[in-house]
Amino acid sequence: MLSLDHISVSFNTGTPNEVRALQDISLSVAEGEFVTVIGSNGAGKSTLFNVISGAVEPGSGHITLEGRDITYWPEYRRSHDIGRVFQDPRLGTCPGLTIRENLSLAAIHGRSASFRRDVKKADDAWFFEQLQHQQLGLEHRLDADVALLSGGQRQAITLVMATLTKPKLLLLDEHTAALDPNAAEQVIALTQELAAANDLCVVMITHSMQQACDLGDRVIMMNRGRIEFEIEGDERENLTPGDLIDRFHSLQDGTELSDAQLLS
Ligand SMILES: Nc1ncnc2c1ncn2[C@@H]1O[C@H](COP(=O)(O)OP(=O)(O)O)[C@@H](O)[C@H]1O
Ligand SMILES: [Mg+2]
Repeated sequence: MLSLDHISVSFNTGTPNEVRALQDISLSVAEGEFVTVIGSNGAGKSTLFNVISGAVEPGSGHITLEGRDITYWPEYRRSHDIGRVFQDPRLGTCPGLTIRENLSLAAIHGRSASFRRDVKKADDAWFFEQLQHQQLGLEHRLDADVALLSGGQRQAITLVMATLTKPKLLLLDEHTAALDPNAAEQVIALTQELAAANDLCVVMITHSMQQACDLGDRVIMMNRGRIEFEIEGDERENLTPGDLIDRFHSLQDGTELSDAQLLS
């Protein structure tokens, strides 16, 4: 489905501030697979997403999505196939617009001009249905201003928006990190529901070792721009947060990082 082949990304190349954010990353994600990504601050996790979504061009290597080489596709061209949700609930939705207007914007994304001309009342039934599944009561609040919603509600709307046009791949960048535990739990449940309902391929960066153990089929640990290890199969089945922290500390250069940094 998604394949990264020897991807490297550097910033400020040739200056004293050069950062090798990704170093020779090769990674394949299969159709319908749910992968979690963990790693300390600055490990290169968000850069990995930036290079997949097209926000950053790799210095070397290739990216393919469903067999097509998308390495040099501009971000907008990939955006129909790739949904992305960020940590900050304010980034995914437009404040000052209602829930209906936000969903309408997501619905017309990448559609033809004729489709876009107007998003009619008829869409309300569809929006109602999308929101009803979440059991947050938002389907009755289509006219509510998004700015008035809680962080959890905004992330829920953002998730629905990111999956409305049926992308092939969903990238979640610590999308529950800014939420209280209850809201985080609800957003995680919605994430699983949407992933299953749409048969999505999901890559989820998380700071939570518990989430990394509970969700998905495979855990990837990044450190200093590299994939240090991947855990799947039987080992993944019985994995605990303690195991992950132990594995991290066993890395040659991981010992100097505290748990706090790992979990940040
Ligand atoms: N646009 C940029 N310009 C310069 N350095 C960057 C840029 N984006 C990321 N970096 C650097 O690349 C490294 C990896 O960053 P990032 O991918 O954001 O890490 P993570 O998401 O794992 O915390 C960090 O050292 C960060 O400072
Ligand atoms: Mg990040």
